[in-house]
Amino acid sequence: MLIIRRDEVLKLLSMRDVIEVVEEAFREKGMNAVQMPPKQYLFLEEGGDLRAMPAYLPRLGASGVKVVNSHPRNREKGLPSVMAIIELVDPATGRPIALMDGTEITAYRTGGASAVATKYLSREDSRNLCIVGAGAQSRRQLDAILEVRDIGRLLVYDVVRGAAEGLVEYARSLGRGLGAEAADAPRDCVEQADILVTATPAREPVVRDEWVRPGTHINAIGADAPGKEELDPAILLRSKIVVDDYEQTMHSGEINVPISKGILRRDQIYGELGEIVTGRKRGRTSRDEITVFDSTGLAILDIATARRVLEMARSAGLGLAMEGLGL
Ligand SMILES: NC(=O)c1ccc[n+]([C@@H]2O[C@H](COP(=O)([O-])OP(=O)(O)OC[C@H]3O[C@@H](n4cnc5c(N)ncnc54)[C@H](O)[C@@H]3O)[C@@H](O)[C@H]2O)c1
Repeated sequence: MLIIRRDEVLKLLSMRDVIEVVEEAFREKGMNAVQMPPKQYLFLEEGGDLRAMPAYLPRLGASGVKVVNSHPRNREKGLPSVMAIIELVDPATGRPIALMDGTEITAYRTGGASAVATKYLSREDSRNLCIVGAGAQSRRQLDAILEVRDIGRLLVYDVVRGAAEGLVEYARSLGRGLGAEAADAPRDCVEQADILVTATPAREPVVRDEWVRPGTHINAIGADAPGKEELDPAILLRSKIVVDDYEQTMHSGEINVPISKGILRRDQIYGELGEIVTGRKRGRTSRDEITVFDSTGLAILDIATARRVLEMARSAGLGLAMEGLGL
């Protein structure tokens, strides 16, 4: 059993590798070659939720479970909103083989999922990126999208001005000549977007339909539990909706509220990202269509990424070998 700390995971992970692993995991899902029951939630009265997320990818030899929370007010307490631990087991025996920090893996693989969606769904000439919600996920969203599109300008909106400015500062520190600015209102940022990322814990829409231009691609990241919602449902009604997983998104993704209110029907969902990655369905088919990737976060992405981290940790000699845990 190898125990891998957060700083070690950070040393080993690169966004480019994660995007490759995430795309492979979506391909496996598109070929129906994975097991991934929908995540299970505990809704904690104290102000957040706790989820168990198991997955098995036989061709990658990866099986395990992530345990992760989402507590939107944690930042007031000096803690991240989202924290996670991942356990990997040997698929042949069930023997625990690794226990690792999953907080960074969650942020990297969520960025990776947006990168894969952006590659297949956004216009190739997309230049302007708008990010609404400048918390922990937003940096990895930026890193990931920069890997797949030639972004020239970043606009950021957050209800906390300092958070938006923090992301702008980070973007400038990347040294890619990216023009980055904080916006005073979400409209100022959304109206100029070729690619829009929403990464807030909002429970009512923060993006209005009339602000979204034809041809925009939206990565809707924040809604990942029942009752969460970031987009005006009218946007969904005129968009090509691509989900990461039918069952999870109907229950807890961006579409969960409009589905439960009867505003949107399941047959209005275009497909899953895995179906596009495998070529069974086409991605963007016209310059003007609006595409929405509804991301709830998949356990297969966590477990496939964790498996890669374990291989890299073994060859780099990182991690603490420990007996007496599970065996
Ligand atoms: N889809 C996925 O796979 C996935 C993965 C991880 C996290 N999430 C979700 O993404 C969301 C963000 O996570 P995080 O870790 O970045 O949280 P965070 O607390 O670090 O950041 C959230 C940011 O959103 C801002 N915000 C809140 N309400 C807003 C509003 N109405 N308009 C604009 N900004 C607003 C906050 O000020 C904060 O800066 C959470 O809902 C989390 O559960 C989804």
